[in-house]
Amino acid sequence: MDRKVPAHVAIILDGNGRWAKAKGMPRSYGHMKGCANLESICDDVKELGIRYLTVYAFSTENWKRSREEVEGLMKLFRSYLKRCIKISDRNKMRVKVIGDISGFDPDIQESIHILEEHSKEYTELYFQIALNYGSRDEILRGVRRIACEAAEGALSPEAIDETVFERYLDTAGVPDPDLLIRTSGELRLSNFLLWQLAYSEFYFTEVPWPAFDRQELEKALEVYQMRDRRYGGIKEGS
Ligand code: FPP
Repeated sequence: MDRKVPAHVAIILDGNGRWAKAKGMPRSYGHMKGCANLESICDDVKELGIRYLTVYAFSTENWKRSREEVEGLMKLFRSYLKRCIKISDRNKMRVKVIGDISGFDPDIQESIHILEEHSKEYTELYFQIALNYGSRDEILRGVRRIACEAAEGALSPEAIDETVFERYLDTAGVPDPDLLIRTSGELRLSNFLLWQLAYSEFYFTEVPWPAFDRQELEKALEVYQMRDRRYGGIKEGS
């Protein structure tokens, strides 16, 4: 059997709140454990030979949560972005934040720049963290840049094909995900990588994000390995 490991895995991190509630704990506890899990999953992903990992950590819609929860998440991002320097060294991992980071406080934007700059030469794992990310927003930001360049005469409308368009997305240069995982039972994309997931395999699990450990990841990979991957009718490898 083909035991091919997906090159790129994307994960919608969902269920921190419900996981915490089931334990009689506040939502903030779930986010804290979710954050710790993100650290260990990077190690697992690297060991399993996956080359690209993209996680959905904060959407453009998440600002609508209570002020207390949003402030708690910002605090968590502040400490995580600093700790992530060590994780990037440990895994020789390049980190890139996708999304509109101008929505964050200046110190968070600065931490993002420091982390991206620190890790930019690493090539063993490419880790994209989606923060203040929404796929429609990403596409619109790209379209605006394309329109400006076309208006200035720097880009000809006839030259805009899929390859050119992808260069204007936050994920420019990164291959599309082979496998999308969503934890905690919801069966939606929630505005995540709508363009990039066009041909990806989907794996949904009831397991909430803080409990999604290496064993669960390996289960997802096994299901992926049993699927026939088809790109518009041609079976991969045939
Ligand atoms: C979804 O659970 C989770 C989030 C909206 C936040 C994700 C954040 C983390 C995993 C924390 C760490 C991330 C970084 C990058 C430091 P939920 O709150 O929607 O859970 P629920 O659906 O059970 O309410």
